[in-house]
Amino acid sequence: MIENIDEIRVQDFIMSLSSETDDDIIKLKQYAIENDVPIIRDETKDFLKLILNIKKPNDILEIGTAIAYSSLVMHRNCKSAKIVTLEDFPRRVKEARENIEKYFDRDKIELIDKDASIYLKENKDSECFDLVFLDAAKGQYINWIDDIKRLMRKDAILIADNIFKDGEIIESKFLIKKRDRTIHKRMREFLKSITDDKELNTYIFNIGDGISVSIKK
Ligand SMILES: C[S@@+](CC[C@H](N)C(=O)[O-])C[C@H]1O[C@@H](n2cnc3c(N)ncnc32)[C@H](O)[C@@H]1O
Repeated sequence: MIENIDEIRVQDFIMSLSSETDDDIIKLKQYAIENDVPIIRDETKDFLKLILNIKKPNDILEIGTAIAYSSLVMHRNCKSAKIVTLEDFPRRVKEARENIEKYFDRDKIELIDKDASIYLKENKDSECFDLVFLDAAKGQYINWIDDIKRLMRKDAILIADNIFKDGEIIESKFLIKKRDRTIHKRMREFLKSITDDKELNTYIFNIGDGISVSIKK
């Protein structure tokens, strides 16, 4: 048994075995890198593909579109799914719209140009999504969880990305810069809330920048 195995080497090894074959996904990732757009990491993408393959959702809600990179990953790996994706930063909305025109079957995606807080309050539906991918303002997750739960069907899966916030979340609040303490506190509250919730089965994974996976009972 090798002790103290270097996690970065393990990650590099895993990713050396994982290759993307979709040219449009490769192109969008390159654009994101060149333009400093935050997108899901490769290991998160692989995990998302796995869940899509197992779950085969009909209806997906994504909170945090950016340029529609993760939307494209979901679209290409679950062709029958209808994706509703939310973005409120005008520049990103414009880029996402252009990418949707270029790369998507138009009837399979709806980009909603709105703050997720407003969308979640306005949408009075219930039980209409099989998969929710949460990748937006981390400090808001705790405020959105009740509305998200209402929108989830039985057995629907909620995946929240970046739950470790570059490792900060596992640190004591006293080691966090004052300006970041609110997000630290709120993310901890979110994680406590989804792990304690009797209506959810939640699992936390050290994938990418941390992922939580919650299944609605
Ligand atoms: C990490 S990026 C999303 C990346 C995208 N999921 C991907 O991997 O391709 C987060 C995005 O969420 C958007 N966002 C943050 N808060 C939001 C809110 N309250 N409502 C809608 N969009 C929001 C940001 O403008 C940003 O583009």
